[in-house]
Amino acid sequence: MTSELQKEIIQLKEEKNAIILAHNYQPKEIQEMADFLGDSLELCIKAKEVDDKEIIVFCGVDFMAETAYILNPDKKVLIPDLEAECPMAHMLTGKQVKEAKEKYPDAAVCLYVNSLGEAKAEADILCTSGNAKKVVESIEEDTILFGPDNNLGEFVQPFTNKKIIPIPGDGHCYVHKLFHKEDIEDARKKYPNADIIIHPESNKDVQELADYVLSTGGMLSHIKDSPNDEFVIGTEVDLITRLKSEFPDKTYYPLLEGAICKTMKLHTLEKLRDCLKNEKPAITVPEEIAEKSINAVERMLEVSK
Ligand code: 13P
Ligand code: SF4
Repeated sequence: MTSELQKEIIQLKEEKNAIILAHNYQPKEIQEMADFLGDSLELCIKAKEVDDKEIIVFCGVDFMAETAYILNPDKKVLIPDLEAECPMAHMLTGKQVKEAKEKYPDAAVCLYVNSLGEAKAEADILCTSGNAKKVVESIEEDTILFGPDNNLGEFVQPFTNKKIIPIPGDGHCYVHKLFHKEDIEDARKKYPNADIIIHPESNKDVQELADYVLSTGGMLSHIKDSPNDEFVIGTEVDLITRLKSEFPDKTYYPLLEGAICKTMKLHTLEKLRDCLKNEKPAITVPEEIAEKSINAVERMLEVSK
């Protein structure tokens, strides 16, 4: 049943000609209000297609909303809670990327979309966990400065002859670092018939024991097409919320109940209503940074077609 608060959000959304985009890690009540749910790549693609709306409300973390703004500098991009930051993105500054470029002048710079605007402005191309292999393959240079996520860099390395140099060298996601190989071993014993799927932000030894290493969107596609009906999910727990709603006949086990991205959970229905009502907080990116980053974003989208 739709609550008063949900009705208010739907009404405000129509009045303000807004669209709600939400990441797969959002809590159930936000997922239910989203016009579009997806992984980082799907959300970038959707943000680029939003022509007929004046406002984009982004229920995700800062770097996702910033990318939506870079693609739509003429629109208002709102985020229900401005504190929703991705700690990994804050592990690599623009200055660090510039310094790495000075040290390796012949290298290309490929940054995970989970990075700050000032770092994106120094990149040649971006990637997400859903297209990292394809993006790296598209790069001509033999050496690639890759960051901030070390684990994603290690995941891609075996698929290419190019030399991947991690920047800053210790970038990581604290949520996916929670998984250990013992968790996979335990899950294998407990659920012998289940596919064990892990996100590439997890450590290499954990990836090696899993059946599949996939982005959150990749997990959804795999499960949709799989003849199997049991899955161990090695990523943030609310992906299971989406899986249960889309494929309710299958069974899902979280690799770890405590794999929770705290900042993703800062958005609430109240904050979503208030942000639509007040048209703030808004996410912006300084013009100079947005102009310098757009090529890297567009190049990634081109490669992903
Ligand atoms: P996906 O692009 O796979 O959804 O990952 C985003 C993210 O932040 C994972 O932690
Ligand atoms: Fe960032 Fe990790 Fe949260 Fe993804 S799960 S938004 S990488 S902190």
